Amino acid sequence: MNLELKGRLALVTGSTRGLGKAIAEALAAEGADIIINGRWSKTVGNVAYEIEHKFGHNIHVYQCACDATDPKKIKEFFSGKMLQIGHLDILVNNIGNLEKFGNFFELEDENWLRCYDLTCMSAVRFTREAIPYLERSGRGRIINISSLSSHQPGNFSPHYSAAKAAMNNLTKHLANVLGGKNILVNAVCPSTLSSGGWAQNIIDRSRRDGITTEQAEQLMRNEDNKKSPLGRIGMAEDVANLVVYLASDKANFLTGHIFDIDGGITRGV
Ligand SMILES: NC(=O)c1ccc[n+]([C@@H]2O[C@H](COP(=O)([O-])OP(=O)(O)OC[C@H]3O[C@@H](n4cnc5c(N)ncnc54)[C@H](OP(=O)(O)O)[C@@H]3O)[C@@H](O)[C@H]2O)c1
Repeated sequence: MNLELKGRLALVTGSTRGLGKAIAEALAAEGADIIINGRWSKTVGNVAYEIEHKFGHNIHVYQCACDATDPKKIKEFFSGKMLQIGHLDILVNNIGNLEKFGNFFELEDENWLRCYDLTCMSAVRFTREAIPYLERSGRGRIINISSLSSHQPGNFSPHYSAAKAAMNNLTKHLANVLGGKNILVNAVCPSTLSSGGWAQNIIDRSRRDGITTEQAEQLMRNEDNKKSPLGRIGMAEDVANLVVYLASDKANFLTGHIFDIDGGITRGV
């Protein structure tokens, strides 16, 4: 299938590693130009260099080193470098994290607020600045990286599930108000992936249960594998493929939807 992404430009937030990097690579493999984002210029530069060398004969890779919790820095990027680049077609809001793992009783106000700031407000800030560009594109796309826990919360980290639920709600709102500008807005909800935050989850579990990280990983894999009809946890590439499809013209009648990508884990019809 030719997804016709050649020449289109995608900003993937939090793309120096984990899922964001996999999404950037999958878009680049389809010929899209990419803006890599993370907090540190050096890391962003290294990843941009790596992707350029992998796919560079075909594409341009730009750099956006800015902290998503600092609205001023995002504004500066859009009024500076982005203005020079001059166009944007796809925004993938990928940044998000627990900040602190814990159950309801272990979480302080500060944990809730920091998680919301990083997970939901980062998307608000990038989206706000990107809209004029996406409108000019004529086929703009916003794809929010949510989580299965946004609508199927577990027993831990309710601050994270709530922030992702807010992101789902925002997705529907933006789809309503941006449809007239031909900007399509969707969210994807991955289940646990064997990349990115997985390593931190293993460390948290080993501390919690007083076991080694190897034992914690084995335990978590067994538990997660059992939940899925497919018998495995997801990979970043599984999610990246869905994002690439949603970014393409093949998905041009899809907006305002929240797509689970979970190997069948979701309970309910
Ligand atoms: N992994 C999973 O199992 C899973 C499951 C469901 C949903 N998700 C969601 O998928 C997304 C990616 O998860 P991941 O596990 O791949 O994350 P990750 O490995 O922790 O990667 C986080 C990325 O975000 C960047 N980042 C972190 N804080 C930032 C900030 N303040 N400003 C700018 N960039 C920042 C990091 O770059 P620097 O460190 O270089 O700044 C890095 O590129 C998240 O929204 C997560 O909630 C993940």
